[in-house]
Amino acid sequence: MKAKPLLKALVLSGGEGTRMRPLTHTIPKQLIPVANKPTIFYIMEQISSLGIKDVGVVISPRTGELVKKSLGDGGRWHFNITYILQDKPAGLAHAVWVAGDFLGNHPFLMFLGDNLVKPGFEEMLGTFADGRCDAGVLIKPVSEPERFGVAIVDKHFNILRLVEKPRDPASNYALVGVYLFNENIHKAIREITPSARGELEITDAIQRLLETGGNVTARVQEGWWFDTGCKEDLLEANSVLLDERCTRRIEGGVDDKSHVEGRVETGLGSSIYDSVVLGPVVLGEGVTVKNSHIGPYCSIGKNCTLEEVRVENSIILDDSVFGMVYLKESLVGRHCRIKGNSAIEAAVTLNLGDWSEIGPAVVSHRNTGLTKGGQRSGDTPS
Ligand code: DAU
Repeated sequence: MKAKPLLKALVLSGGEGTRMRPLTHTIPKQLIPVANKPTIFYIMEQISSLGIKDVGVVISPRTGELVKKSLGDGGRWHFNITYILQDKPAGLAHAVWVAGDFLGNHPFLMFLGDNLVKPGFEEMLGTFADGRCDAGVLIKPVSEPERFGVAIVDKHFNILRLVEKPRDPASNYALVGVYLFNENIHKAIREITPSARGELEITDAIQRLLETGGNVTARVQEGWWFDTGCKEDLLEANSVLLDERCTRRIEGGVDDKSHVEGRVETGLGSSIYDSVVLGPVVLGEGVTVKNSHIGPYCSIGKNCTLEEVRVENSIILDDSVFGMVYLKESLVGRHCRIKGNSAIEAAVTLNLGDWSEIGPAVVSHRNTGLTKGGQRSGDTPS
C-alpha cells in the first residue's frame, strides 16, 4: 500500500502591505509585532503545534531577506523552512502556483502571513482524514464583507459560491486566511484568469474547484480572527492578544514611587520610575519609563524611553524616545523621536514609520534671509 503524502504548510509572506504604510516601507507587514511578537510568529507556533515538519514561506524580492532573517531555518519551531520567491505580488493563487515544486502532490495547510486566527480551527484537518475533501475553508460573519472573500452558504454551511471582495455582498461570511487543500487546487489555479485587480485569486480557484465537481467544506471560525492589514485591525488584535495572553512578570526594576497594576510584563533591564503602569501592558527589554502613565493595552518594544508621557492602546516598536506627549491608538515605528509640549494636553494618534521625528518648532533664522526682527538683511528700518 502506498503511504499517504504528508501534510505540508504554506505561509504567504509576500505582498506589498500598502494599507500599512508608512511602516511597511521598511518592515514587512507580517513582521509588525502584536503584543511584542511578530504576527507571523503566532502562525509559526500554530504550525509547530500541529506537528507539521515541512513549511514553505512565500517571500517577495523587496522584503524577503528581512523575513528570512527573522524566521531563520525554522529550527526554533522544530520544522524546516523552504523559502519560495514570488517575483511580483500577483495574487494568492499565483503564490501557490510558484510554490508548486515545494508542494508536489502533498495536501497542505495555507496561512496568510498577516492573519491571526484563534487556535481551535485545527479541527478542520479532520475533514481531510477520509480523503474525500479537496479543500477546506474557514468562514466568519463580519460587518464589512466587501473587504474580504465572501462565501455564500446554505443552512448546513455547504458552500454555494465564493466571490472575492464583492461590491454588493450576498452574504456576511468572510473567508478567513487559513485554507486546506489537496493537489487538485493546482489544476484549478491553472484554469483561472486574473481578477479585476489583476491578481490570480485563491477565492476564484476554490470557486473553480466547486464548478468542476470538487468537494469543498466550510467551517465557521468561532474564536477571534484578525486580518492585520490596517492599523485599526492591528490595534484591536493587540488588545485581544494582550487580554488573553499577558501575565504578570516583572523582570525589570520598579521604584517605590511607582504603581504597577494588573497583568504587566516588563523585560530585563527595564526601569520604571515615579509612574503608573496599568495592565495589560508589555514592555520589552531595556525600556525606561519616567513620570509617565502607561496603559492599558500597550505593547512597547525594546530600548524605548518614555518620559512625562501618557500612552493608551498603542503599539510602539523598538528604540524610540518620547517626551511630553499623550498618545492614544498609535502605531509608532523604530528609532522615532517624539517630543511634545507641556502646553498640549490633548491626546494625539500617530501612525509613523521608522526614523520619524516630531518636536516643537525651533526658531531658526538660517537661510531665510530674515533678521530676528523679521526684516530682510539689508533693509533699512524706516
Ligand atoms: O484576510 C482574509 C482575506 O485575505 C480573504 O478574505 C480574501 O479572500 C483573500 O484574498 C485575502 O485578501 P487580502 O486582500 O487581505 O490579501 P492580501 O493582499 O493582504 O494578502 C494576504 C497575505 O498574502 C499577506 O501576508 C501578503 C501575502 N501575499 C499577497 C499577495 C497579493 C503574497 O504572499 N503574495 C501575493 O501575491
